[in-house]
Amino acid sequence: MALIVVTGRGGAGKTTTTANLSSVLASKEYRVLAIDGDLYLPNLGFHFSLDNVKYTLHSVLKNPDLDPEWAIYRHSVTGVHVMPGSSQLHDVLGISPRKLTDIIERIKYKFGVIFIDSPTGIPFDTLPTFELAGYQLIVVEIERSPIYSFETMVRNEIEKLKAIGDRYKLNIGVILNKVREAENVVDDLIKTIEDEVGVPVLGWIPFDSTVPESINAGIPVVAYAPWSDAAVAFKETGNVLEEWIFG
Ligand SMILES: Nc1ncnc2c1ncn2[C@@H]1O[C@H](COP(=O)(O)OP(=O)(O)O)[C@@H](O)[C@H]1O
Ligand SMILES: [Mg+2]
Repeated sequence: MALIVVTGRGGAGKTTTTANLSSVLASKEYRVLAIDGDLYLPNLGFHFSLDNVKYTLHSVLKNPDLDPEWAIYRHSVTGVHVMPGSSQLHDVLGISPRKLTDIIERIKYKFGVIFIDSPTGIPFDTLPTFELAGYQLIVVEIERSPIYSFETMVRNEIEKLKAIGDRYKLNIGVILNKVREAENVVDDLIKTIEDEVGVPVLGWIPFDSTVPESINAGIPVVAYAPWSDAAVAFKETGNVLEEWIFG
């Protein structure tokens, strides 16, 4: 059982990373559950065309009598089990994020790997789940045009998010996303992150317009366009992740 939480800035690619790495592990025959822990702005469902389902994580949070399994759907293309959130405002009001850990406790024995997609910033919604998790993935969006302070900014961002994972004694790994013109400096950046911040970089994903296309199709890019640049990078990163967790 490896519980993973994903953190990073808004728009960095947390949800995209959750959808794709869970798809890669599901293709390797792990039983994978991906939970939308972004309780206020859930969007994991869109990545799997599960944005219009009857029972959601919110239904279960609201009604403890509901079996959490009712809110789990198997995405037929990737085989990932997904627990989407509800984007209806009335579902979002008055729920307690603390209950998320109770739900995970009830179902975790059924899955080999659970990903918990997180909200942006300090992930208050999913913070209680850090107590159950073993791993924290930090997704960092790489700026289009690296300015001189770029390395410092990236370090700063990783260090802040790492401080949260450290408190819960999680194994921490970094994924760089949306790499564009920075491609030529990415090796140096990885070296700095690994040597100076002291966390492994599991992979880097290029900026690829196939990614938004795949989200529109409701199929993670690794399954939607397996030979696209982003898909190849997510598959490599998934291999590294598997090795890192399961050895
Ligand atoms: N590697 C990439 N290349 C191009 N676009 C990307 C990539 N990763 C994510 N995106 C786009 O960035 C936007 C934000 O991604 P998302 O995963 O929702 O971020 P977060 O969950 O961190 O807020 C989405 O519209 C997605 O299509
Ligand atoms: Mg998101």
